[in-house]
Amino acid sequence: MFNAKTRAIVVVGAQWGDEGKGKLVDVMAERADWVVRYQGGANAGHTVHIGDHSTVLHQVPSGILHPGVRCAIGNGVVLDPETLFVEVDELVRDGVDVAGRLYVSDRAHLVMPYHKLVDKESSASKAIGTTGRGIGPCYEDKIARRGVRVLDLKHPVRLRALVEKGTEHANHILAGFGSEKRASVEHTLDALQALSARLLALSEDVGLAIHHALKSGAAVLFEGAQGSLLDVDHGTYPFVTSSNTTAGGAATGVGVSPRALDECIGVVKAYTTRVGSGPLPTEYDEVMGEKVRTLGNEYGATTGRPRRCGWFDAVVVRYAVRVNGLSALAVTKLDVLDTLEKIGLCTGYEIDGQLVTEFPGDLADLEHITPHYEWFDGWLTSTADARTLDALPAKARAYLDRIEALVESPIRYVSVGTRRDQIIGL
Ligand code: GDP
Ligand code: IMO
Ligand code: MG
Repeated sequence: MFNAKTRAIVVVGAQWGDEGKGKLVDVMAERADWVVRYQGGANAGHTVHIGDHSTVLHQVPSGILHPGVRCAIGNGVVLDPETLFVEVDELVRDGVDVAGRLYVSDRAHLVMPYHKLVDKESSASKAIGTTGRGIGPCYEDKIARRGVRVLDLKHPVRLRALVEKGTEHANHILAGFGSEKRASVEHTLDALQALSARLLALSEDVGLAIHHALKSGAAVLFEGAQGSLLDVDHGTYPFVTSSNTTAGGAATGVGVSPRALDECIGVVKAYTTRVGSGPLPTEYDEVMGEKVRTLGNEYGATTGRPRRCGWFDAVVVRYAVRVNGLSALAVTKLDVLDTLEKIGLCTGYEIDGQLVTEFPGDLADLEHITPHYEWFDGWLTSTADARTLDALPAKARAYLDRIEALVESPIRYVSVGTRRDQIIGL
């Protein structure tokens, strides 16, 4: 947690996304001055549950429900202005005062209607099972240096030229897929025109603002989206998202030095889930999968798709501890395991007769994996009301102790329900 020395904390997903980052960020934001998103975009769905009401945030940082906290969207995010304002308007309808507290980096790239069209029409996106939010095509344009940034909205001639270039490229790709659909320059410019003034009013040099905030001693949370195994470099490529979800992305995606980051907390479920295609070594069979999906309400917060479920994979999380330099873990959804008689914990993989404990980079290896499990007796009692580690059943503590030892990181927080107060360690 924040203290005199620890002022900048990164929160990352340490599995395949949906670990409960939104809940942890909301809880930690109680003591923060700023919450900043650094990558991803509207593919994220971060749930914050207060009282009986749950809010799913896609682009707005998960600190927004704390009135005194400022929220920023960093340059590393690909920003969809249309859905951003739908989200903001919903928050305002729910009584959240957003005015003057939300900032958008002037350098953030904009997700255009043509990015969403390409994402929805592409067979490659379908094979990966993307969220269809235009994330990959927008990052492609960014890397190819034909993207449109927030600051371009101030320059109509430049904006038109960039939109023409982007549209031409998108239409070329659509034709290549054999799609009949085409993007229109005028449609895109009209859509931007309608939102431009509102977006420019939020535009800020976010890197500079966070630099000043940290210099003056403010407490800043860097909110990751997706999970480490979806990182474009370190994840299960090509079944990944198109950004650096891991802690390094926090520095580049906000515009602060890596040396400014004091701590990194990894969020993990007490089991494992994944949405979309790609390897999931510890995936349950159909019957168990359905059981845990129901117990954990495992349906995507953005697309509503059923999440694939499996046992906790210590190989994966140990890898995430290393790649992110995690200082601690937050284990969520422990309560979902409350009624299970036996609980598996994957300690290593057998690949072609060899025992492997480092996560492999080659998908071909992952396809031949036989996971090795240690089995734990279930605690068969509710953990939902536990507020200290001592209040947890001994069998649940034994399970968590073994996770700590295997992944080589201390567990600092344990979440035992959706609500803000259902957390141990704060
Ligand atoms: P994120 O993308 O990492 O923010 O996670 P999501 O919001 O997509 O998915 C996590 C889901 O688990 C949400 O529905 C949360 O309300 C819920 N959740 C978070 N922590 C807990 C917990 O400790 N127990 C239970 N039962 N649900 C939780
Ligand atoms: P949060 O922040 C879980 C997955 C998609 C797909 C792959 C690529 O809520 O944890 P994309 O649309 O990003 O090009 O899709 O990544 N994916 C997520 N899975 N949680 C997320 O976000 C995700 N964002 C993207 O399902 O497999
Ligand atoms: Mg999510």
